[in-house]
This record gives sequence, structure tokens and C-alpha cells, in this order.
Amino acid sequence: MVWLAPVNFSRDLSVSLNNRKILLGIGGGIAAYKSADLVRRLKERGADVRVVMSQSAREFITPLTLQALSGHPVAMDLLDPAAEAAMGHIELARWADLVIVAPATANLIARIAAGMADELITTTCLATSSPIALCPAMNQQMYANQATQDNLATLSRRGIKLWGPGSGSQACGEVGPGRMLEPLEICAFAERLLEEAATELCKQSLKGQKLMLTAGPTREAIDPVRYISNHSSGKMGFALAEAAAAMGAEVTLVSGPVRLATPTGVTRIDVDSAQQMLDAVMAQIDEQDIFIGCAAVADYRVADVATGKIKKSNETMQLALVRNPDILATVASHQTRPFTVGFAAETHDVETYARDKLKRKNLDMIAANDVSVPGQGFNSDTNALQVFWPNGHQELPATDKLSLAYQLLSLIATKIAKK
Ligand SMILES: Cc1cc2nc3c(=O)[nH]c(=O)nc-3n(C[C@H](O)[C@H](O)[C@H](O)COP(=O)(O)O)c2cc1C
Repeated sequence: MVWLAPVNFSRDLSVSLNNRKILLGIGGGIAAYKSADLVRRLKERGADVRVVMSQSAREFITPLTLQALSGHPVAMDLLDPAAEAAMGHIELARWADLVIVAPATANLIARIAAGMADELITTTCLATSSPIALCPAMNQQMYANQATQDNLATLSRRGIKLWGPGSGSQACGEVGPGRMLEPLEICAFAERLLEEAATELCKQSLKGQKLMLTAGPTREAIDPVRYISNHSSGKMGFALAEAAAAMGAEVTLVSGPVRLATPTGVTRIDVDSAQQMLDAVMAQIDEQDIFIGCAAVADYRVADVATGKIKKSNETMQLALVRNPDILATVASHQTRPFTVGFAAETHDVETYARDKLKRKNLDMIAANDVSVPGQGFNSDTNALQVFWPNGHQELPATDKLSLAYQLLSLIATKIAKK
């Protein structure tokens, strides 16, 4: 199975199998009629489904039905030159994130257990490194037969998933175990298996990486009781810290003043001003592999901070401001710079400004969001990002900030892996 990035972390069940590639093998059992509905249910959850049919399966349901439902030609013959020229058995095996055989006949179960490669379903099962799940479907006596039970035990030992069978009345008129699971039950198994696989993979994807990020606003003192600041809540940066730690990174979070709990496993350094943030960052930057500048750092600070509280006097007053250091640019121009990612909050011409900042500050990646869109950016719980790097870009559509954090970090992980 290849690493899919970004992983779909959406809680929305209608896209719970979004972009997942599922190869459905259909055996010659009476339950093959349910497989047509299974294709529909998988597809309505966002999966891309390709169907492989055994020769006997074609006696029970037509390839035309499955082609129309899946939107792809049905693969049938191992030794068909035309099929091999399009997507042959090895390509199908590599293509799939998951192989489901439903119905898995007693015959198919026996042939897969024996390691046979006599037709397309068995050959694909042998050639894939992705998870395989079998949904047994047969007469209850055939299922209870020691030969079938031994084959199932062998397959289970090898890590092949066995989903079902269900028990109840059978097409042959008997009652007992051997009914193929219903399509929605199979979908639920597929969702759980792929989510667990993605979580496992995700946990490893930043393992061994030291990641530092800044979050929240900065406070620029005017006098001992007043300051200049902004509306940043720190939620995006804290979500990134939480996700990065869950993905195996060693995380240092340099945070401006926010009302948020420190995510588990994250080392937090609290600062107030831009200068303090810069000092905290540069003190440890040489050890970092990744730096994400997510804080809304004040561009200016008060030139002369009053030592005592400024008293009310004239109708107007003026504060002289001076430029603050640019933390992101300082990190990006550092001799031993880590993979450096910036954030840009824009209200218009998002791509133009983001690309300009990417180039001007010599960043590896920039995540831009349009803060003029209601429900995005400052203080909100959701966000959407347009991510740019020197030769490409990717849209991360609106979702909760933690899901977005996982997606952005998955992108960063793939870029680092390529480096
Ligand atoms: C009407 C009919 C229904 C069948 N239903 C099943 C079944 O539900 N499960 C099963 O394992 N075999 C069933 N068989 C037997 C298989 O079709 C037979 O073993 C076939 O060789 C399986 O081929 P395959 O495993 O390559 O698809 C049925 C046979 C017939 C004639």
C-alpha cells in the first residue's frame, strides 16, 4: 500500500472512504447479487472501486451491471492481452489500497489459502501488499466443513481479514452460518480497517523529526498595564502541535499569550513579545528539522515603553512604533535552516501575496488562508488553507482545525521524505 497524503481525517461519513482505491473480487456464489449494491455503497462513501469477477461469478451477475455501477471496465481474464495492456494483474494489485472478495466462495477461499494464481482474483490476492478481506458466503454445511474451516484458519493466521459470515436463513433453504454480510456492514469494516491503517501510518510519518512552531498573538507593551496585540486565538498552532506530536514528532511550541491547554507530549515555551518569541526560537533552532511560523507576530512595537502607567492628559496622543524582527525570515535565512513553513492571512489576492511571501522570505512552503471568508481564520474553530511550495500547490478545503493540521503535516511529511 502506498502512503496517501493527505489522509482523509474527515468525520463526515459520506466521504469516509474518500479517494480510497478498493478492488472488489466477486466469486461465483448466490450472494453475488449483493455485490452490485456493495459497489454503490462503497462509491457513495467516496471510494474508487474496480471490480474483478471469477468466471463462475459471471453466471450469477453480469459484468455490464458492475461496469455501469463502478464506472470502470470489469477485469475478468488473467490471460487477456487487451486487459493486460490497460490495467493488468500486477497494476491492479498495486493500485488497490484494499482488496475485498465478496462473496468469497468455498472454492476461492481454498484457492487463496493454497496460494494459487490460476485466475485474476487469486493472482491479484497473491500479488498485492495491501490488506485483503474475505467475506465468506456459502451453504452452512460447506462453511462448517473442516476443509473450509482449516482454510479460513490458515488465511487468518496470514493476516487476511475475515468479515463474516452472518448467520440465518440461506438461499438454499437451510439455516445457519454462511450468509454474506450486508453491504453496509462490509462498508463499516472497510472504513474501520482503512482508518486504522491510516492512523498507524500517520503515527510514524514524523517519527524522529524535531518540529518547532510558534502560535498565538504577541503582546507589545505600551506601559506596564497596556499593550498592542491582535485577535489570534492560537487554535491553529495548537492543533498543529497536537497533530505533530500524534504523528511522532518531538514538538516545541513557542506560544504567545493564549487561553489554551498544552497538547499532550508537547514542550511549551510561553512568551509575550515578538522579541521574546524570536529569542526563544533562535535559542533552539539549530536542533530543529521543521519550523512552522503560525503565530500572528506584531509587525511593530512601541519605540519607548513607558516605565510607569501613562496618565490621561491631552485629547490625542501619539505612539511612535518601530519594526519588529521578522521571525520567519530570520529562521529561513539561518545557516542551518530547518524545513521552513510560513502562514499568511490574506483578505484578497491570496495566491499572489502567498507566492510573493514564499519567494521573498525563501520559505519551503506557505499555508495561506482568506480571513475575509466568514468562519475561517482568527478565533474560529474551522479553517481552509491554500498551500503553496515552489513547484506546486494544494487546496485543503474547510474543516475543523485539527483535521486541517493533520493534512498540512502529512503534506510536509511527504516533502521531507522526498528531500
Ligand atoms: C446456483 C449455485 C449457487 C452457488 N452458490 C454458492 C455459494 O453461495 N457459495 C459457494 O461457495 N459456492 C456456491 N456455488 C458453487 C460455486 O459456484 C462453485 O464452487 C464455483 O466453482 C465457484 O467458482 P469461483 O470460486 O471461481 O467463483 C454455487 C453453485 C450454484 C450452481
